[in-house]
Amino acid sequence: MKRLYIKTFGCQMNEYDSMRVARLLAPLGYEMTDDKCGADLIVLNTCSIRQKAEGKVYSMLGRLRPLKQENENLIIAVGGCVAQQEGKKLLGRMRHVSLVFGTKSVSNLPAMIKKIERSGGRYVDTGEAEHRETAFDDAFDHNKGDSKALITIIEGCNNFCAYCIVPHVRGRERSRRAHDILDEARVLVRSGVKEITLLGQNVNSYHDSSNGTTDFPALLRKVAATNGLERLRFVTSHPKDLTDELISCFKELPTLCNHIHLPVQAGSDRVLERMNRKYTRGEYLNKVDKLRKVCHNISISTDIIVGFPGESRDDFNKTMELVREVEYDHSYSFKFSTRAGTKAAGFDDDVSGAEKSVRLSELQALQKEIIFSKNKEFEGTSASVLVEGVSKTNEELLTGRTTCNRIVNFSGDSALVGKIVNVNITKAFMNSLRGEAAVDH
Ligand code: SAH
Ligand code: SF4
Ligand code: F3S
Repeated sequence: MKRLYIKTFGCQMNEYDSMRVARLLAPLGYEMTDDKCGADLIVLNTCSIRQKAEGKVYSMLGRLRPLKQENENLIIAVGGCVAQQEGKKLLGRMRHVSLVFGTKSVSNLPAMIKKIERSGGRYVDTGEAEHRETAFDDAFDHNKGDSKALITIIEGCNNFCAYCIVPHVRGRERSRRAHDILDEARVLVRSGVKEITLLGQNVNSYHDSSNGTTDFPALLRKVAATNGLERLRFVTSHPKDLTDELISCFKELPTLCNHIHLPVQAGSDRVLERMNRKYTRGEYLNKVDKLRKVCHNISISTDIIVGFPGESRDDFNKTMELVREVEYDHSYSFKFSTRAGTKAAGFDDDVSGAEKSVRLSELQALQKEIIFSKNKEFEGTSASVLVEGVSKTNEELLTGRTTCNRIVNFSGDSALVGKIVNVNITKAFMNSLRGEAAVDH
């Protein structure tokens, strides 16, 4: 038996791809290990969304160099978005790496690894030569005994937001066949999964015309009908593709969790236009209103970039106002980071590093205030929680999530792991809620 260590950086789509890698390499005799020192094959699944993410990959590669010096048979393979972008350059820079494979060549990985095992050598396979589009795998069971699972339903992105590397490293949108998605959902639920998250950089532009037409709302309805599935989520939605029909799914489908991640990026129309987001502040706010009309307690989270080229103090204030107005339940915020090859790389990055930091901390302080006051509203209520396991920081507590995606730590019997239980919320914190399992009468 050979040992395979996989390190995943970046988004959940990379997590899904890492499970594909593990599955594809199992027939070659590779079994997963958590210990990179004893591994025969190390795969890094990388992310290049911001400079910092890319930096993490190179520092990890630096740390792996001594392992290769100790064991020359060790194979180090780098996949994911940095690999897709850098290709040959990465192989040239990192002499201890044997294989660079792109996001479009995951399915070719077993063949490449076999070749290296047999006769050594160093290779790049980023799928360009044959213009290979990822053939999605057939449905497969990747449940590792968890109550939650991810399913990628659409690859790539056509939106070309001016700052974003994703369309450049993941290619154009390709929707997976609805039939395979439904099969995978069934297989996962049969093996104990209670909650499924449908994944894509822009899930709501999903479109499968292989067997009649299935758009995203139609797919949601079909997946929601999976026998035994208790919770359904999806991420990420582009505001421009959030249709009335999709909004009404929050009312229509009882298994659909009352949470949506709806990245706004900026609150100023001028910046939104330069970002090529294809919606205005007014249109975005209108959709938020509609969501709240259909599902009054829907939890809304977002992504925000501060310091986009040309963002004035006045533009930034508009983002702050928007955050105050929407009162997001959660947000991820980032300083703009120039990505080579994107449109914004040609803009003058005129907001200083110091100013970006100031804006980021102002925004995050405001968001913290909002989160804490919203979490406080949960004290004294009871919430339905899918129990994921024992808390990592306190063995005496169980941990899980509400349908609105809040983390709840609570005291209760470990037999509750994997179940959906009612929890009385006793205390709110910044990043979680505390509670006690409600006793059924
Ligand atoms: N597909 C999703 C998000 C993809 S990346 C969407 O359309 O929203 C996740 C987040 O990273 C983005 O929403 C954006 O806020 C941030 N991001 C992407 N590129 C960035 C860059 N160059 N600099 C800073 N943040 C960036
Ligand atoms: Fe990037 Fe925009 Fe596509 Fe999201 S929608 S992945 S931010 S280009
Ligand atoms: Fe990162 Fe690639 Fe995902 S750039 S965010 S791993 S699609």
